[in-house]
Amino acid sequence: MTCRILVLISGSGTNLQALIDDLGSNPVDGEIVAVLSNRADAQGLERARRAGIPALAVDNRDYADRETYDQALIAEIDRFEPDLVLLAGFMRILTEKFVTHYRGFLLNIHPSLLPKYKGLHTHQRAIDAGDTEHGSTVHFVTQELDGGPLVLQAVVPVLNGDTPVTLASRVQRQEHDLYPVVMRWFIQGRLRLVEGRACLDGHPIPPAGLVMNELNNDMREHPYAS
Ligand code: GAR
Repeated sequence: MTCRILVLISGSGTNLQALIDDLGSNPVDGEIVAVLSNRADAQGLERARRAGIPALAVDNRDYADRETYDQALIAEIDRFEPDLVLLAGFMRILTEKFVTHYRGFLLNIHPSLLPKYKGLHTHQRAIDAGDTEHGSTVHFVTQELDGGPLVLQAVVPVLNGDTPVTLASRVQRQEHDLYPVVMRWFIQGRLRLVEGRACLDGHPIPPAGLVMNELNNDMREHPYAS
């Protein structure tokens, strides 16, 4: 049965584009059925429309508070009956009700090596701390902001003279490989949240997550195959 995927965005949607391109280039039984944004001017909505995907804005400024907004968002999302909801640069703090509603099939991509640097300005913070490595993480979403069981990380070096802009662009290039890998694992029924733990092929993923740089091409497909 085709895995129905819904993507939530707030901005340029380069990660969304990577997901669209991946589904278009490698056969897998998944389809992005809709893209929703909290901002009508999000460039990613245009990317979706160009790909023939229904794209709509549910503007948070039209709602009195977070609870009412998330309730409206849930109603819109559920019209599309998704099996998987992907946050791809959706810059909103989610209510407990929202997170609980999609528990087990809600994933996020965050531009840091979680649990480091939850929240904003992650690239600047990594530079300020003198880190030699930085990156991005895909994780299941729970109530804790940028918390939740880690699935897969991409690690990049922090280079001398890096600015938040140069570092962000190095991280983003990796994100465009990272998110499609995890999306595929979910579509293929290999990635699941079981009793609060992320599991791949029935094996609990270590709390620190798997590292994409350490998976060879075959392992991206079958990391636990013997
Ligand atoms: C991505 O780098 C993603 O990791 C980040 O927003 C960017 C969206 O870029 N997400 C967060 O910061 C969530 N806390 P995009 O719109 O070009 O995909």
